[in-house]
Order: sequence, then C-alpha cells, then structure tokens
Amino acid sequence: MITVFIKTYGCQANVADSVHLAGCLKGLGCTLVDTEDQADLIIVNSCAIREKAEHKMFSYLGELVEHKKNKPYLAIGVIGCVASYRKEEFFKRFDHVSFVSGAREGLETFKANLVDIIESVATKKSLYVLPGKQEQVQDNSLGWQFRRSMINIMRGCNNYCSYCIVPFTTGRERSFSMNDIVEQVARDVRAGSKEVTLLGQNVNSYKDPETGLGFATLLERVAQIDGEFWVRFVSPHPKDMTADVIDTIAAYNQKLCAFIHLPIQSGSDKILQLMNRTYSVETYLDQVAMIRERLPHATITTDIIVGFPGETERDYQATLDVVKRVRFAMIFSFIYSPRKYTSAAQLQDSCPDEVKHERLQTLHALHREIGTQVNKELVGKTVLVLLESRQSQDLSWGRTEGNVRVLVSGGALELNQFVSVRVTKTRLSDVRGDLI
Ligand code: 5AD
Ligand code: SF4
Repeated sequence: MITVFIKTYGCQANVADSVHLAGCLKGLGCTLVDTEDQADLIIVNSCAIREKAEHKMFSYLGELVEHKKNKPYLAIGVIGCVASYRKEEFFKRFDHVSFVSGAREGLETFKANLVDIIESVATKKSLYVLPGKQEQVQDNSLGWQFRRSMINIMRGCNNYCSYCIVPFTTGRERSFSMNDIVEQVARDVRAGSKEVTLLGQNVNSYKDPETGLGFATLLERVAQIDGEFWVRFVSPHPKDMTADVIDTIAAYNQKLCAFIHLPIQSGSDKILQLMNRTYSVETYLDQVAMIRERLPHATITTDIIVGFPGETERDYQATLDVVKRVRFAMIFSFIYSPRKYTSAAQLQDSCPDEVKHERLQTLHALHREIGTQVNKELVGKTVLVLLESRQSQDLSWGRTEGNVRVLVSGGALELNQFVSVRVTKTRLSDVRGDLI
C-alpha cells in the first residue's frame, strides 16, 4: 500500500484540489497519512499569490530532504501555482523533487499521470501489488475529515488586476459544465455534505459552456437540489456583482448563505485604477447598498491591499473611510507584494516598508474594533449553527450562515448537523452560545 501526505498552501481552490486529489488517491488504493515521515509520496500544493507564501513553501521543500535521506524511494512532487511558472527552478534547486505539475496545465493533467507516479513509487518500494487502472481515478470532492464539499466551478482569470499573478499561473478563464456541477453537488449532498462552497477566481463571471447561462442560474439550480445544506461561494468580483445573484440568494435563503465576500482592495479611485480593478469606490458602495437593501441580513467581508505603489497617506485614509462606512464583518488584509510578470511590478514604489507595516497594523486595529461591534449585535439572538468539531465533552465548534465561529455549550452534540443557538457572549473572531 502506498501512503501519501498532501501539504496545501494558499486559497480554497487549492484546498479543494487537495481534497479532490486525496479522494482520487484513495480510489487508487493509497492511504492518506497525517505526517511526512509516514509517507511514501508527498504532494506539495503551492501558492504564488504573495512572495511570503512562496518562501514558506520553498523552505518546507528544503526541509523534506531529510525525509528522502531516510527513505530513498520517497517521491516528492509539487503542484499548483508556483509549479506553473517556476517549473525548471524546482529541478535545478532540489534534487529530491521528482515531479512538478502546474495549475496552468490543470489538475486533470496531473491526475492523468497519477497512476504512473504511484506505480513508480510502488516499484521503487518493491511492492508487487500495484494500484488499479486509469479508470479508477475517481472524482471525490468530499473532505475526509469534516463533511464539507468544495467545488471548483471555473478555473483561470481574465481580469489581469495589475498586482496579481493568478492569470499567469492559472491561464484563461474557463467555466465547467453547469450540469456536471449540479450533479456533483447533488452527489455530495446525498453523501452527507451539509455545506457546499462553489469556488472560482471570479465566480460571478461563471458562464455555462453549453448554454451560456450565468452564475445566478447556477445558484438557483444548486439551491433546488433536495436536502438540508448551505451553499457558499468565493470570490466574486465587484464588476460582475449583479442584482440577479443577490435576488436569487434572497429567494432561496434557506440554502444560499447571505454571505458575500466582495474584495474592494482599496478605497481610493486612483489606486483602483492603477490596480486595473475596473470599478470605482462609488460603484462599489452602490453595490453594498443594493446588497443590504435586498438582503438585509447579509454578512459582507472583503480583501484589502495596503502599500500598493503610489499609495499616499491620503489614498490610505480613503481606504479606512470606506472600511468605516461599510463596516465589514471581516477583512483579509495584505501588504502589497510585487509579483513577476504582473504590470504593477514595473511601477515605482517609494513607500518605505515601515510605513506599509504601520498601515497594515492600523487597518487591523480598525477591523478589530468594527468586527467586535458587528459580532456584539449577535448577543441575545438565536442563530442557526452548523456543527463541525468538538472542543470537549460539553463544547462544540460550528459556524453561522455569516461564517462566524460559534462555541456551543449543550452536551455532546452530534457533528455535521444544524442546531439553534442563543448567543451569549462575543469576541472579535468568535462567539459563544447555548443550545436551545
Ligand atoms: N500582493 C498582496 N496581496 C495580493 N493579493 C493578490 N495579489 C496580491 C499581491 N501581489 C490579495 C488580494 C486578493 C487576495 C486573494 O490576495 O487582496 O483579493
Ligand atoms: Fe487576481 Fe484580479 Fe483575477 Fe482576482 S480577479 S484572481 S485579484 S487578477
């Protein structure tokens, strides 16, 4: 039997790919293990979005050389975004890396070679029992730990935001068949999934390749599947955030979570233009107003980049102003990281690093203040919680529709079920409550 360890960096699309791969490997008779030293095959799913993520992955790869010393037949492979654009470098720098397959070629290419890879590990390990045939590479998007399914509905991105490497690592945007996606969701729900997340770099520009129907129709069809489950999606682009999507969420509010992650990136029109985001602060705020009007209980979260080349104190203050106006429940904030191939990498950047760090800290402080207030509004309210893990005999963790973590007291509860909870206490990143 071949044992496999998968290390995942980056976004939910990578997590979804890793879970999917794990399912395929299991279908081929492999066993997934929890530590590197138990593994015959280590797959590293890489992320290129910021330099820091890449550094972490490269130093992890460096550490793996020790494992190879103890176990010469160990195979180490890299997939994902860094594998797309620095392929040669892996072989030059690391003798112990045996295969590299980038996100640009797609997971399918890698899967097509999976049987060969496993056979080669098995041969080196002197195993006679080789795994089955190609046809056994099966689809399995259900996680092996918590029953949450993540489904990539599209790949690639055509937007070319000036700071972003994704269009270069994942290629042109391509949507998957709506029928296939709906079938996949139905299969996962039948298998016990209570939460389905639809993933794409730009989910709301989804277009069924067969019919041309868009994201709102996909949401509607998914919501019409029988069963008790929640649907989330990440990430939409503000330029495509149309009212029909919000109206569909409102119409199917039992299943479609009123949770909108809408990355604004900056609160300055000048910076948005330099970023090639193709919307203005005003149109973004109009969309927030539209969402809040049609979906009053919506949770809105965002991504923000600070220290983009040319960002002055004034531009930065404009970002803080927007944050105060919208009162995002959650902000994922990043210091700008120049990336190869992107057009922003050519821009003059005179802002010192200390200033960028200070800006990030101030934004964090503001977010803590606002996020805590937003959570406080939950005290005394009854919320529906999907239970996902246990802390102790009496305490379980779950999440609300708005993705707020809740620690629920009320005995040893069965996981993967929806329960009603009265919120008693709140903090910035989680709340506590009692089972009703
Ligand atoms: N530097 C910093 N942050 C980035 N992001 C994307 N590219 C970069 C970069 N070069 C952020 C954006 C995006 C999120 C996934 O990562 O905010 O929405
Ligand atoms: Fe990157 Fe912009 Fe595409 Fe998002 S929409 S993946 S930020 S290029």
